[in-house]
Amino acid sequence: MTIKDYLEDKRLAVDRFLDEVAPAAVTPPATLHESMRYSLLAGGKRIRPILAIAAAEAVGGEAPGLMAVACSLELIHTYSLIHDDLPAMDNDDYRRGKPTNHKVYGEAIAILTGDALLTMAFDWISRPDLMKGCDPARQIRLIQELAYGAGNRGMVGGQVLDIQAENRDIDLPALQTIHKHKTGMLIRAAVRMGAIAAGATERQLDDLTGYAEDIGLAFQIADDVLNVIGTREELGKNPNTDAERGKKTYPAFYGVDGARQLADECVARAVRRLSSFGPTADPLREIARYITARKH
Ligand code: IPE
Ligand code: IPE
Ligand code: MG
Ligand code: MG
Repeated sequence: MTIKDYLEDKRLAVDRFLDEVAPAAVTPPATLHESMRYSLLAGGKRIRPILAIAAAEAVGGEAPGLMAVACSLELIHTYSLIHDDLPAMDNDDYRRGKPTNHKVYGEAIAILTGDALLTMAFDWISRPDLMKGCDPARQIRLIQELAYGAGNRGMVGGQVLDIQAENRDIDLPALQTIHKHKTGMLIRAAVRMGAIAAGATERQLDDLTGYAEDIGLAFQIADDVLNVIGTREELGKNPNTDAERGKKTYPAFYGVDGARQLADECVARAVRRLSSFGPTADPLREIARYITARKH
């Protein structure tokens, strides 16, 4: 199976699970559920859930509840995008090829939709039906990984640093810290959660964590590059917004080619971290390469 087929296959499985398990749009309060589904099912590459699934496959053990684990990450990610696009944050009006959530439902509902998706993520990974067969100690660990990656020491912490850095002349270490948190920590959680769900050894978990940290940075550098060179049609979101908003990014430091080269170096490092794994980690290796090759 080519990596293109692999990504497509997993993306469809994730979309199916989200569609089936997320409450129907008519569930009261209907505006909330309609809005949750609007953003959640708008498309999206589903890279975080796919990473969780691929990490579980690399480890190779049984992973009861893996789809709920994987999709909990997408719930958090979608909430983070809704809030990231709000006028008080990046003030973007286009996402995943559609008007942003607050453009359709208004700011109050957009904030509450994000809150509800965030909370629902923890519902899904603690639900007995969705997590049937998962060892309780393992399940607690998964819940803690999700909280850590998403919260004040993870994605939210990074978003705070990102907002505080607007229109400021930050240095490269500061930019790297922002990227490692706002984007890297949820990607790190995705890989670790997939691995933990499948019963990884500590050694495997360490290697996979190193891999995740490297691809997390590469992912955000690639996002910065696409913001400069991509089109609205390709990206499903407006390009050139970082420069307009006075955000210092990797291309601002190194130019587009320099930033690309750095992202490629991160990817090469990530792949080397998987040297103790056999062919079961091939999808993770290919996903690392896809991260810098992608057009959206
Ligand atoms: C965009 O994430 C925001 C970042 C953290 C860089 P993705 O590029 O994964 O967006 P979707 O989920 O495919 O829309
Ligand atoms: C998004 O970073 C990070 C999170 C949502 C946590 P950006 O603000 O750079 O991403 P885009 O370009 O809006 O997708
Ligand atoms: Mg942002
Ligand atoms: Mg943004």
